[in-house]
Amino acid sequence: MADIKFSYQGTCGFSNSEVYSAAKKLAPEIQMMNEAAKSGNYNDERSSINLPADRGSVKCILELAGKFTNAEYVVVIGIGGSNLGAMAVFEAIKGRLCSSPSGSNAKMLFADTVDPDSITGIGDIIRNALKSGKKIVINAVTKSGTTTETIANFLVLLDIFKRCEPDYRNCIVITTDRNSKLWEIAVREKLHILEIPGKVGGRYSVFSAAGLFPLKAAGINVSDMLKGAIEMRGQCLSNDIEKNPAALSAAILYLHYRKGIRINDSFFFANDLESAGKWYRQLMGESVGKKNDLSGRAVNAGITPTVSIGSTDLHSMAQLYLGGPYDKYTTFTRVQKFRNSVKIPSYRELVPLAPKIQEKGMTEIMDAILKGVQAAFRSGKRPYSEVMLPEKSERYIGQLLQFKMIEMMYLGSLLEVNPFDQPNVEDYKKETRKILGG
Ligand code: PA5
Repeated sequence: MADIKFSYQGTCGFSNSEVYSAAKKLAPEIQMMNEAAKSGNYNDERSSINLPADRGSVKCILELAGKFTNAEYVVVIGIGGSNLGAMAVFEAIKGRLCSSPSGSNAKMLFADTVDPDSITGIGDIIRNALKSGKKIVINAVTKSGTTTETIANFLVLLDIFKRCEPDYRNCIVITTDRNSKLWEIAVREKLHILEIPGKVGGRYSVFSAAGLFPLKAAGINVSDMLKGAIEMRGQCLSNDIEKNPAALSAAILYLHYRKGIRINDSFFFANDLESAGKWYRQLMGESVGKKNDLSGRAVNAGITPTVSIGSTDLHSMAQLYLGGPYDKYTTFTRVQKFRNSVKIPSYRELVPLAPKIQEKGMTEIMDAILKGVQAAFRSGKRPYSEVMLPEKSERYIGQLLQFKMIEMMYLGSLLEVNPFDQPNVEDYKKETRKILGG
């Protein structure tokens, strides 16, 4: 099947020439991205784009993950950039109900916030599974190694493991920065360790060990995902602006920003992509939400990312989207071929309830709803673009994530902010530690 497709012409709120001329401003940035790609190393913050093709590192990660493919549960302890990518991919491929038969039957559990009820639930699952002889792998992912929530959850689950699993050291994998204190402790405790390269920020780390290890252990075909990412990197580093989806998409967001349209709704017409929406929300929120621009001038820049699910949220948000203020630009994402095809059964006595749907396929109905929404957006002069995924396979999810990460680097460049740092997230973390007496 062909690649994912980004469409915007005639619906995005700007003429092609306006979009191209904004995208052309990215020429120097595209040049720097190509230099980062050529180097193949991790000396530049752009270099997360080198992760998918880093054969040596991918091999090490997959070898370690291969030891855990018989695990019943893969428990990821991490938050923000350290778990949203893995969650997005796992749910897209295996389904939110974990019902897709692809890959192994391992389930992924995510411990992120410090909610005592959630961690107790995860703890109970682990205890029961270990008691009945099932295998579990715990993967604590934290770039800094000091995030309060992650360390708190890790300590709680470590305690359970120590009590129930004599070989607990072999079931724990720490993913962190080589310079973190956690790295030192993991070495001392003889735990398995994987590295997140220093220059790769959390929200750009899904193709590092942070995403690859737990996904592979849970039976996801990460090789196909990386193949998709490499394909998309080729397109998104192209100097031929009109064929560069990341540059075009960033240019449209930038043009809207300049016009004062500073809300971007990602409207996914697929339940299993909701976590991909949350992953993108972090990517956009943290990358371009900035107090200062690159020259240090106070700008308080930012685009507020929101996530909607079709058709569910049409029944709660369509009124606002079609009747409310002209302050949003929407990116619809649709899936061409779902994993299942479901035909609506025909019962003559129930025909009057919804006369035109019987015997139709559910995908056909979903498509009709999306087309209806887009027609209403057009007549209401509500700007939008569309990303079409041929299917929710590893390859296309890899393409989607790489497309969006490069788009965000370009958007940072157009807005003249640093898309790689998050100084104000650090502020709150420090304050929390002070309150806790650390
Ligand atoms: O994107 C980011 O840098 C943040 O969202 C971090 O990923 C998040 O705060 C978790 O940090 P860490 O991986 O250091 O535990």
